[in-house]
Amino acid sequence: MDQIVIQGGRPLRGEVRTSGAKNAALPILASTILGGGECVLSNMPRVVDVLTMGKLLGMLGIAVTHEGDHTVVQAHSVASTEAPYDLVRTMRASVLVLGPLVARLGEAKVSLPGGCAIGSRPVNFHLAGLERMGAIVEIEHGYIKATARRLKGCRIYFDTPSVTGTENLMMAAVLADGTTILENAAKEPEITDLSAFLVKRGARIAGAGTDMITIEGVTELHGADHEVIPDRIEAGTYLVAGAITGGQVVVERCRPEHMEPLLVKLRESGVELAEEKECIRLKVAGRLKGTNVRTSPHPGFPTDMQAQFVALMAVAEGTSVVTETIFESRFMHVEELRRMGADIRVEGNRVVVTGKERLTGAPVMASDLRASAGLIVAGLAAEGTTEVSRVYHLDRGYERLEEKFRALGASVERRKEKCP
Ligand code: EPU
Repeated sequence: MDQIVIQGGRPLRGEVRTSGAKNAALPILASTILGGGECVLSNMPRVVDVLTMGKLLGMLGIAVTHEGDHTVVQAHSVASTEAPYDLVRTMRASVLVLGPLVARLGEAKVSLPGGCAIGSRPVNFHLAGLERMGAIVEIEHGYIKATARRLKGCRIYFDTPSVTGTENLMMAAVLADGTTILENAAKEPEITDLSAFLVKRGARIAGAGTDMITIEGVTELHGADHEVIPDRIEAGTYLVAGAITGGQVVVERCRPEHMEPLLVKLRESGVELAEEKECIRLKVAGRLKGTNVRTSPHPGFPTDMQAQFVALMAVAEGTSVVTETIFESRFMHVEELRRMGADIRVEGNRVVVTGKERLTGAPVMASDLRASAGLIVAGLAAEGTTEVSRVYHLDRGYERLEEKFRALGASVERRKEKCP
């Protein structure tokens, strides 16, 4: 297994370019199942989760090829309707093939995703929504089995907005008979991007990006070209890295309008930011101040930036409270940050952080993708050496992260973990 070794304490300086959004690329790839015709996708991030989704499509008999910077998907026919456990257990987002398979082929057998390091992550909204649309859904031998002759449009209300739940049901509704209305839908930019791609392919969708999405079913989709939006979480991670090291960075090819809650909180803690159309310039003068943050669905503060922000607050002046409202146990990074000298107390679903002047490097262990990012940004600021192990989590969602940090002047290396 690889680990990332950081010699901390160097302010980051320079320009860094954001890759395509993993969480937009995944549903877009899954949605290619919905129809034949060639789909040419650009700005696809080269991260393990996206490769895994490509592999899953391959297992379903769909041709996925890479031509230069483009990913070309041809789903003229779909040979299998099964997403096996061995694959789903490595990536929960595999459940995104469920809606498209039932919609196009009338059946799907998808392994039920198991436990997750960030809390219980049920898929009951996905299943209840498909049932509302007329599918018969059963759980058997660890698999979700869903069948339907043709799904029927209906009204579906989400108890709480779910990102992949909204995406799954939006994709299912595209080929359903009649109109589907998704209420209290998630509003993340990745949902709007999926909708934009589907509309290019002939789908009829209105309201994506709001809490009410209306989908009028059509009988088939054709191919289309699409450029995936930039990754707002990756871009946010570079901003926090710039801020925590007291640096001066320019994050290029990002969409500031997708990142407002983070930008507001960074400014509140004293970071100077200048927004341009597709770039953000960051500068820090003096020590940052602690500020309170509460994660919530978009346009609230993203849970996927919580670990990185906790790391930032660990060196900010004063006390900050960070409340996590999306996932119940997404504080696994806290114990590791403590090993680096951070003063953080967990109180139920919130942490109270008392900022220290400095952190000190230590061997730490990553528990999930964003926890890894949190530990790495902490390591960039810490005095001495930080070794982050289990970085395979990081590779699921960040493209060439250490290379990008090195270009900003950080000392970051990937090594094989020593055996105990
Ligand atoms: N929920 C249910 N039932 C469901 C679905 C969700 O109770 O059927 C609950 C969840 O337990 C959670 C809340 O609803 O409390 C919201 O979860 P959501 O469904 O929105 O999460 P997700 O779709 O599984 C996506 C991202 C996550 C990101 C969350 C929240 C993808 C592939 N994944 O997950 O990204 O944290 O939305 O924004 O889009 C990551 O990239 O590191 C990551 C974990």
